[in-house]
Amino acid sequence: MAPRWWLLILFLGGSVLQASSQPNSRGFISIDCGLMGEESYVDDETNLLYVSDAGLTDTGTPYDISAEYYRPWRSRNVRSLRSFPDGARNCYTLRSLVSGLKYLFRATFLYGNYDGLNKPPASFDLYIGVNFWTVVNMSWWGSDQDNTAEVEAIVVVPHDLVQVCLVNTGGGTPFISGLELRPLKMSLYPQATAELGLFLLTRQNFGAINETIIRFPDDPYDRIWDTWSRPTVWKEMSTTERVDSFDGDYFEAPMAVLQTAIMPLNDSGSIRFGWKAEPQPNNPSPGYLAVLHFVELQVLAGNALRHFNISLNNDQNWFPGYTPPGYLKRGYVHSSFTYPRESSYLFTIKATANSTLPPIINAYEVFSVITTTNVGTESQDASAAMAIKARYKVQKNWMGDPCFPKTMTWDSLNCSYATASPPRITSINLSSSGLNGDISSSFANLKVLQYLNLSNNNLTGAIPDALSQLQSLTDIDLSGNQLNGSIPSGLLKRIQDGSLNLRQGNNPNLCIGDNSCQLAAKTKSKLAIYVILPLLVILVIVSVVVLVFFFQRRRKQQQGSMNNRTMIKPQNEEEMSTSHGGASDSLWLVENRRFTYRELEMITNGFERVLGQGGFGRVYDGFLEDGTQVAVKLRSHSSKQGVKEFLTEAQILTRIHHKNLVTMIGYCKDGEYMALVYEYMSQGTLQEHIAGSERSLRWRQRLRIALESAQGLEYLHKGCNPPLIHRDVKATNILLNAQLEAKIADFGLSKAFDHHNGNYISTNTIVGTPGYVDPEYQATVQPTTKSDVYSFGVVLLELVTGKPAILSEPEPMNIIHWVRQRLARGNMEGVVDTRMHGGYNINVVWKVAEIALKCTAQESAQRPTIADVVVQLQECLELEEGRTRDFSTGGGNNDYSSWNYNAYGSGQSTDVSKNAAFGTELRMPTVGLGLAPAAR
Ligand SMILES: *[C@@H]1O[C@H](CO)[C@@H](O)[C@H](O)[C@H]1NC(C)=O
Ligand SMILES: *[C@@H]1O[C@H](CO)[C@@H](O)[C@H](O)[C@H]1NC(C)=O
Ligand SMILES: *[C@@H]1O[C@H](CO)[C@@H](O)[C@H](O)[C@H]1NC(C)=O
Ligand SMILES: *[C@@H]1O[C@H](CO)[C@@H](O)[C@H](O)[C@H]1NC(C)=O
Ligand SMILES: *[C@@H]1O[C@H](CO)[C@@H](O)[C@H](O)[C@H]1NC(C)=O
Ligand SMILES: *[C@@H]1O[C@H](CO)[C@@H](O)[C@H](O)[C@H]1NC(C)=O
Repeated sequence: MAPRWWLLILFLGGSVLQASSQPNSRGFISIDCGLMGEESYVDDETNLLYVSDAGLTDTGTPYDISAEYYRPWRSRNVRSLRSFPDGARNCYTLRSLVSGLKYLFRATFLYGNYDGLNKPPASFDLYIGVNFWTVVNMSWWGSDQDNTAEVEAIVVVPHDLVQVCLVNTGGGTPFISGLELRPLKMSLYPQATAELGLFLLTRQNFGAINETIIRFPDDPYDRIWDTWSRPTVWKEMSTTERVDSFDGDYFEAPMAVLQTAIMPLNDSGSIRFGWKAEPQPNNPSPGYLAVLHFVELQVLAGNALRHFNISLNNDQNWFPGYTPPGYLKRGYVHSSFTYPRESSYLFTIKATANSTLPPIINAYEVFSVITTTNVGTESQDASAAMAIKARYKVQKNWMGDPCFPKTMTWDSLNCSYATASPPRITSINLSSSGLNGDISSSFANLKVLQYLNLSNNNLTGAIPDALSQLQSLTDIDLSGNQLNGSIPSGLLKRIQDGSLNLRQGNNPNLCIGDNSCQLAAKTKSKLAIYVILPLLVILVIVSVVVLVFFFQRRRKQQQGSMNNRTMIKPQNEEEMSTSHGGASDSLWLVENRRFTYRELEMITNGFERVLGQGGFGRVYDGFLEDGTQVAVKLRSHSSKQGVKEFLTEAQILTRIHHKNLVTMIGYCKDGEYMALVYEYMSQGTLQEHIAGSERSLRWRQRLRIALESAQGLEYLHKGCNPPLIHRDVKATNILLNAQLEAKIADFGLSKAFDHHNGNYISTNTIVGTPGYVDPEYQATVQPTTKSDVYSFGVVLLELVTGKPAILSEPEPMNIIHWVRQRLARGNMEGVVDTRMHGGYNINVVWKVAEIALKCTAQESAQRPTIADVVVQLQECLELEEGRTRDFSTGGGNNDYSSWNYNAYGSGQSTDVSKNAAFGTELRMPTVGLGLAPAAR
């Protein structure tokens, strides 16, 4: 290991700063790996604070590079490094990120003979979270030990915590010199999404003065713009004038980069540059995103014209006839991931016959795709496992994600893997692992844990009762520890009812049974040991036997009652006729499970966590015995209305089943208590997603939610006999599960009607929610299926605009009027939710707006049926997805990927429709859509 001579200088200089890996005010995280302890420093070049990696990883060994590789021009970041000789996977855990935000990740490597072996590792793998980032192959940067390797990726981070892992693939000991994270505006690099990351191949600034590398503070996102000079091939030009910026710039190249450009040496020559494909092991034929930046740096006189063709490989027509947007106005052209795969790529930029000036270019960037669709361990399980690891300082291979990938699952853990949901931890065996201290409460956060073995450790303290809440837990082994106190009542109960096995032998201070405890603790005489203890043991055994007998009988009785079909009688006659349209029996059957109030208390842990609040009562979070998460809607006592709604909903949900209607698992009618138990919808209501500013839904997701909700309604209107009218369709009654599948909920106001006999329901009260209520129904007091269509139209408008049904700004206004007003002026941009950042096919958005406005027509006869709406939304989704059909790199949901190319800049960005490649398919607004206010 090289002497830390520079450390000495640092201390002499007295510039040791206190710092941590918390993001700075810009959200930057700058880590100098291998830097000692609490050390930190301000980098000369960027003025950014770099901190040590201590505390971000609990493995590895810090080293300095060998002194002979120290170079005055080299950034200080690479002087030290951390090497990971042990374990297949070693990780850094970075906290305090913003979940759902886009980050630039950069890792730096300089071998510099740190280990004195003169043998850099051949290669190792790098991961961001559970997703593969890249192979670090030192020979890609030249075999010289003196070369610094840098890898960069732009990804959306799903959580506020991310792990960066180095994986030893047998190519030598992994190491890392520096790790930097820079948050990006969400609108930048729209090709980077939750499912796709961008891996940087090259980023070049042409014509940089004195070959200066540009990064922070010239680039506020601290991208590194490399440069090189080729005076025999091209001429350089530059300006000191400001280059304009414009709103909606997807790439925001820094001004210093755009102030320089190159032209061919010979005016009739061309500019050529390119890159070689770099296949990755998991992606042999990656797609590439190339972004070319152009700014006119000369004031063009009279008839002067700069006009050039951009060709890519043999594709002469890749972008014919481009002119930079205007003097000091920025423009760019970008490729798509779907460009045919080649082994190497060459851009040729050549003036057209009409051009009076040679071509120019200011900069370019090239990225390949990395898919980021792997899902790590369910987040509550993962954080519990990390807390357990930290609490007991577990060594083993406990690094990175606990369950993913399967081949690297943490030792002593077992996980369950389902296709549609994240992996979960089902068993932990930490027997004989030298654990000290008490039993961590984090074990009780592993909600689907079945088996827990902590035997033969040195655990002290009491057994936590919280473990009894783990409904799937069947076996606990705590034997051979120093536990004290008694066995908590919750566990005792689980043991007695036979749902749990507990081994607790060989814990000298643990007492069995409450009274015996105090006695045993106080009386330490031989008498106690020889006389009282055996007596007590007999007593306990006898009482346990009696209890077990008693409980088993009770369980049998309960099971008996559950297996019987249970009948609930509706409250009154009106209930009957409206619910069944007259064609029904007087009793209806409930096939679902019936819960007792006590069971609900257990399931919800004493009604601990409230998920939501409705007119009917509160909704609570719960877990069934098998670990299934459920939502329990408990009727509040205060609501008289509640009984009727409860019965209506219970009745409807027992006879209708559809994948887009929320599923009822069971109900409770226990004395005055009434409750419904539903499947758990982890993503909450659609309303929360529309109103929430954190992570907004992408257009494709919105479209799918619209279609699925419409299918749910279609089932109510057409699949049920007699048809059902929901009567309260709104964004808060559309629930989303973990996969963002939409299901309609809350059937408390639903009514059946017989359209064959025209047997409309007549009630004299209007039900529904302001902003969603059909005006015709309001006038006639006769709900029809078209009333639901109207309300659904409002939901569609919310999905398009991201605005609520009733807007408060600038003045209170119904969303329908608000949208109609804007669309009448052809102003689609002003209507679409800006949080989608242009990630949609404009034609499709128009079509959906059109459907929504038809649904919300004043007269119900003008409105489509929900079946028509389903067909049209299906077409919309196909159209939208058609854009990415040929996307072959996998996991592709990228809304941008099929743009063959698209150019805009400050002079052109508002005029996309004139772009030949794009404009031809663009349907223009008001024409043909009948959206003018006059149109009905
Ligand atoms: C590293 O890259 C070099 C040059 O591209 C290649 O020959 C070598 O096989 C790579 N090594 C590994 C382990 O991938
Ligand atoms: C570029 O280098 C030359 C010669 O070293 C120097 O005179 C000039 O000031 C430098 N220009 C800039 C902008 O740094
Ligand atoms: C520029 O290129 C053209 C065509 O290749 C050639 O005829 C001409 O001589 C070149 N001019 C100079 C100054 O090199
Ligand atoms: C530029 O592209 C156009 C359209 O493909 C073509 O007609 C023209 O010949 C090209 N000009 C040059 C100089 O390659
Ligand atoms: C070149 O100019 C002629 C005459 O002005 C015009 O017809 C032609 O379209 C132009 N070609 C290009 C590629 O702009
Ligand atoms: C258990 O802990 C006690 C007290 O901390 C210590 O004296 C003893 O050596 C430990 N035993 C084991 C097996 O670790």
